[in-house]
Amino acid sequence: MKNLYSNTKKTLKLIYDLEKKNLIVILLLSLLVSVVPLLTTYLSQELLNSIVAHQVLNRVMVLLIAFVSFTVGSEIVGQISAIFEQKLQVNLVYKLNKIIMNACGDMKLKDFENSETYNQIERINGQIAFKPSQSLDMTINLMKTMITLIGSIIFLSMWSWKMALLLTLVPLTSIYYYIQIGKREFNIQYQRMEDERESWYLNYILTHDFSFKEVKFYDLKEYIINKFSRIKENFIKQDMDLLYQKSKLSILFEVGVQIIGAIVLFVAITAAYSGTILVGNVVSIIKVTSMIQSSSKGVMTSIYALYNNNLYMEKLFEFIEEFVQVENEEVLIPDNTEITDIHDIEFKKVSYHYPETQSLALKKVDLTLHAGERVAIVGPNGSGKSTLIKVLTKLYENSEGEILVDGVPLREIEETRYKQQLSVLFQDFVKYELPLQENIGFGDIQNISDTEIMKTCMRELNIDFLDEEDLNQQLGIWFENGRQLSGGQWQKVALARSFFKKASVYILDEPSSALDPISEKEVFDSFYEKTKGKIGIFISHRILAAQNADKIIVMDKGEIVDIGTHAHLMKNCRLYQEMERAESYEEYFAA
Ligand SMILES: Nc1ncnc2c1ncn2[C@@H]1O[C@H](COP(=O)(O)OP(=O)(O)OP(=O)(O)O)[C@@H](O)[C@H]1O
Ligand SMILES: [Mg+2]
Repeated sequence: MKNLYSNTKKTLKLIYDLEKKNLIVILLLSLLVSVVPLLTTYLSQELLNSIVAHQVLNRVMVLLIAFVSFTVGSEIVGQISAIFEQKLQVNLVYKLNKIIMNACGDMKLKDFENSETYNQIERINGQIAFKPSQSLDMTINLMKTMITLIGSIIFLSMWSWKMALLLTLVPLTSIYYYIQIGKREFNIQYQRMEDERESWYLNYILTHDFSFKEVKFYDLKEYIINKFSRIKENFIKQDMDLLYQKSKLSILFEVGVQIIGAIVLFVAITAAYSGTILVGNVVSIIKVTSMIQSSSKGVMTSIYALYNNNLYMEKLFEFIEEFVQVENEEVLIPDNTEITDIHDIEFKKVSYHYPETQSLALKKVDLTLHAGERVAIVGPNGSGKSTLIKVLTKLYENSEGEILVDGVPLREIEETRYKQQLSVLFQDFVKYELPLQENIGFGDIQNISDTEIMKTCMRELNIDFLDEEDLNQQLGIWFENGRQLSGGQWQKVALARSFFKKASVYILDEPSSALDPISEKEVFDSFYEKTKGKIGIFISHRILAAQNADKIIVMDKGEIVDIGTHAHLMKNCRLYQEMERAESYEEYFAA
């Protein structure tokens, strides 16, 4: 109950912060509407009694007009309130969506690589369109029905407090049981989350394009559906159990309420027979009794539904508390961080381990990079090459050791300014289902309308499969008139994205993994041209691509095992020699 109260308070506070005006109007109108049933009941009672007592027509007419005005008025107010509710809901969903998107955009890469955070976002996003406003609806409903219930009880107790007390008996005892079921449902849903995620994932791989090819080819449909069914069938069983329990309680509640209602009516009718009360009062007692019955049921359902929604709201609050930045909490940045160009980068004993893993992905890496140097990083899978790039680009910040950029510690340099100087092609680059202009322009969003540079980049990389005069060309297959590209073509577009930016450090992680040898050569030629006088780093598995670099860094198991030119490494580095031999072996067979 405490939990219910605090969460409802938090929900109202959140909605108040986002939609103050609409919320206040809705609450006031709801308050107005909720007293109308009682007022009209009172008026109809007076109306009937004055007719029976043959009172002057004037009084009867006044009562009638008041009765009609209140009924019509409440209808109108109800409609107006519905407009505001609709308005609030639309705005609320939009604003919450923006908050979540903003928070996701501000997150660190390590947050996104954490499955719990990722799933948290999935869950919140999936239901944001209705859960928060549902919570508000339930709260308003609870408020309305509570007012009607309390008012009706007071109204009835004016006739007989004993009868009023009797009528509250069933609702009061049922509240306890309803909350118990609500809690059970909450717990079941909470424990289910892990399985829920898995079933969501299974559904996802069966219904999305990225996995369709494999699902089809390996004939995975049945296996995946069976796995999905096992999880879902268990959920259905749990849901049915709960439904039976709820239905049993509802039946008991209904029967109890009706029996007590009948007793109250019996007493009222007997009282009317004996002349203790008037006919009008009997009518209003019947009405109020039924109002108590329906509003107490309304209170139960609202409490129960609020309990249920709490699970979602709790997750939403957790997310907001953890990830939505409060503006004045931002870290102060030292003054010495202005950078217009980067000439040297130095790694001093830099180590990094991924959260939740013990082993180091980078082990005491010492490294210097100077402007004018083209550096290749080679090494087996999992040796830490991409991790090194992610640490260098400040995507991971909690590394040990020191990284100096032109002598200034990287952690003291403001992220945005630092990133302005870098251009990166990631190993798992994105194939944006967007027009060509955005696919390239995202590399330097400030200059996205500079189509001339875009066209130059396309020419540099020999992107002749797309028309440079048609930058609005939609790419991919998700949207109308999209042009799907081959793996290597997508990679070239991603390369154009990183070339589009005027930076002082260019970093390419496996830029030629999908390219044919001719394209590969063209890409490296343009890369060498592009990075003249700058820092150029690329990762490659191919010694052939790396051998022309000014400096080749050989990595293994998170460590740098050697640094030097091709000639030096061929003489001194066993791993390098081994990689070179394996490559010629491949080539021997390929020939
Ligand atoms: N997000 C992550 N969370 C936990 N561990 C990770 C993560 N990314 C990589 N690793 C681990 O860190 C190590 C280094 O990975 P990294 O991606 O840097 O290798 P790589 O040299 O780029 O390999 P490849 O040539 O296959 O691209 C690997 O053992 C990998 O399992
Ligand atoms: Mg990699």
